[in-house]
Amino acid sequence: MHRVTIIRGDGVGPEISDATVKVIEATGVKCEWDYALVGVKAEQDWGTPLPAHSLAMIRRSGVALKSPLFIEKMGSKLIVEHEDGSQRIYSNVNNALRREVGAYVNLRPVRGFEGVRAHTPKLDVIIIRELTEDIYSGYEHCVGEDAAEAIKITTRQATERAARFAFEYARRHRRRRVSVIHKANVLQLTDGLFLRTARQVAQHYPEIKCDDAMVDSCAYQLACHPEGWEVMLMPNQYGDIISDMCAGLIGSFGLAPGANFGEQVAVFEASHGAAPDIAGQNIVNPIALILSGAMMLDHLGETEAAERIREAVRVVLKEGRVLTPDLGGTAKTTTMTNVIIDHL
Ligand code: IPM
Ligand code: MG
Repeated sequence: MHRVTIIRGDGVGPEISDATVKVIEATGVKCEWDYALVGVKAEQDWGTPLPAHSLAMIRRSGVALKSPLFIEKMGSKLIVEHEDGSQRIYSNVNNALRREVGAYVNLRPVRGFEGVRAHTPKLDVIIIRELTEDIYSGYEHCVGEDAAEAIKITTRQATERAARFAFEYARRHRRRRVSVIHKANVLQLTDGLFLRTARQVAQHYPEIKCDDAMVDSCAYQLACHPEGWEVMLMPNQYGDIISDMCAGLIGSFGLAPGANFGEQVAVFEASHGAAPDIAGQNIVNPIALILSGAMMLDHLGETEAAERIREAVRVVLKEGRVLTPDLGGTAKTTTMTNVIIDHL
């Protein structure tokens, strides 16, 4: 029996969360689901979107399946109080959750599917994003009324950790190339340190080729020459942007899974957001979270069940009979979920 914390999230979150739990249960893998409240509902009930008891549940189970959370544009910073009385300030609940459970790297495999109309159906890349620093650290302040500053942070320690994860991943999955994505021609010190550190880590993995690309050129190449990329390692913000772009290249946001890893905890989540505009209509594509659920099963050692889920998704997409609106169809979320279960 595996113990898993479920965060049903905001917007379309509950719909894709319930779909994923149903698919995992249909594989026969036994899980005990602990439901933790995070997000809008937690704010209403507990006065904070990230209650300490929800964090404690994630830390205790060590594994969470998390749906997207609603993040307000230009919302306020989130303050998390620790037991010793100290406080941490975060730019939003998503970053806060990742940081508070110790996640330091985000993994987003983006692979195209046969049968899905897409710009780049053959794309097959692994995006590895450093999660704890860069311009997303949340250190911002106003300078008078008409200016504001944000601080971009890069440390050797955090970069090394993310780089080691990327090379270990490449080694385990027999990928032969890790590309470091940066903008070290402008940000010589911060992205320069990121690149230099990643190259040093690469020396411990002589069988893996390490090269690098500027993030702007990387975006162009992904759109025009997508073949050949294998593992891509990048700072927080570039990873955020490039992973959305890659989801677009394979045809939908609804197809790109992901996971956040720390030493003690793994949080599995889709790379898309809460999509409040289509929430509650039973039309959201549940596949991104279902595939994140498959990644979670891999992590729990249930690789056979994980592979059955991935295969069922592949077949449903290839047949193309039951597709949600993002993929050009008219199917409901629950119908697509049931068809995936039929194919398990
Ligand atoms: C993501 C999201 C988040 C991020 C937002 C919602 C804060 O865009 O996971 O890619 O950038 O970390
Ligand atoms: Mg994003």
